[in-house]
Amino acid sequence: MLLSAEHLSINFGSRQLLEDVNFYLNEGDKVGVIGINGTGKSTFLKVLAGKLEADAGTISRNPNVQVSLLEQNPPMEDDATVLEQVFLHFPKEFRELNEYEAKTMLNKLGLPDYEQRVGTLSGGQRKRVALAAALIHPADVLILDEPTNHLDAEMTMWLEDWLRRFKGGLVMVTHDRYFLERVVNHITELSRGKLYHYEANYSKYLELREQRAEMAEASERKRQSILRVEREWIMRGCKARTTKSKERIQRYEALLNQEAPETDEAVQMAAASSRLGKKIIEPLTAVPSSAASPTTCCAVTASASWAATAPGSPPCST
Ligand SMILES: Nc1ncnc2c1ncn2[C@@H]1O[C@H](COP(=O)(O)OP(=O)(O)OP(=O)(O)O)[C@@H](O)[C@H]1O
Ligand SMILES: [Mg+2]
Repeated sequence: MLLSAEHLSINFGSRQLLEDVNFYLNEGDKVGVIGINGTGKSTFLKVLAGKLEADAGTISRNPNVQVSLLEQNPPMEDDATVLEQVFLHFPKEFRELNEYEAKTMLNKLGLPDYEQRVGTLSGGQRKRVALAAALIHPADVLILDEPTNHLDAEMTMWLEDWLRRFKGGLVMVTHDRYFLERVVNHITELSRGKLYHYEANYSKYLELREQRAEMAEASERKRQSILRVEREWIMRGCKARTTKSKERIQRYEALLNQEAPETDEAVQMAAASSRLGKKIIEPLTAVPSSAASPTTCCAVTASASWAATAPGSPPCST
């Protein structure tokens, strides 16, 4: 295990961004973190990287495990040159050994002027310098927040190739579904303070999500149909006289109080439009269970157990 986070909670004022979530990263895991805008992805990444402290929970990692973070809006030194910025947090010897590689990287990222002052760069150029700094770090865990935002198609392909060859653990936020599909082998969805993990690439994740939404919808339809029958039974003038009738009414109330499946706001994956166009994932229900066992869906089991008891319930006996 490279990194683990357990029982993490983060609040900003009255807003709970993360609520008692767990996250585990193993060697070779390449995790795409997705979620709607403002849901807390960047905050989660910073907490994982140890840059920001959570309100509750623990982050554990072996002290030998090196973590490299590319922030969504990386802090930069305006007076530094491009090359100085790349090596800002490294010892002199490291720079000497890795300068050639850094220059190669900067060239690939469209930054051939290593002596240019950071303060004179555009936002996109700055982010690319920060990306080079994150990649030159010999890290076991790479945490990247929207690394492709300011890359052209060629640079994106270069990064894709680089990340596919990377042997450590990767945690990455990106809205580029094409990039996700090609790079990650796990998807973690952040929604309403919870993390939902899928051991799947992006297209498999979409399939699983759709299946689960269908199951949740079917389960909800069943619940509504049982509620209708039971409501009619009660309206016929059932009195809670017998123990069985009381139990039946209690089951009705429990079923009535069950929450209908939540429908998420759409997660918009703004894929590089020149390559794939835009795709909006339809609102679906995320179910907190492992990807391999969709039957652990709570809504499904709850309704199924009611369905199993309802037909045998006592008829109305007043
Ligand atoms: N230090 C802070 N103090 C208070 N609120 C904050 C702080 N940092 C972020 N927020 C708020 O927390 C929420 C989550 O922010 P965050 O940047 O983590 O979301 P995100 O999912 O990365 O969004 P985006 O997709 O736009 O990058 C936002 O509403 C943001 O305004
Ligand atoms: Mg963000």
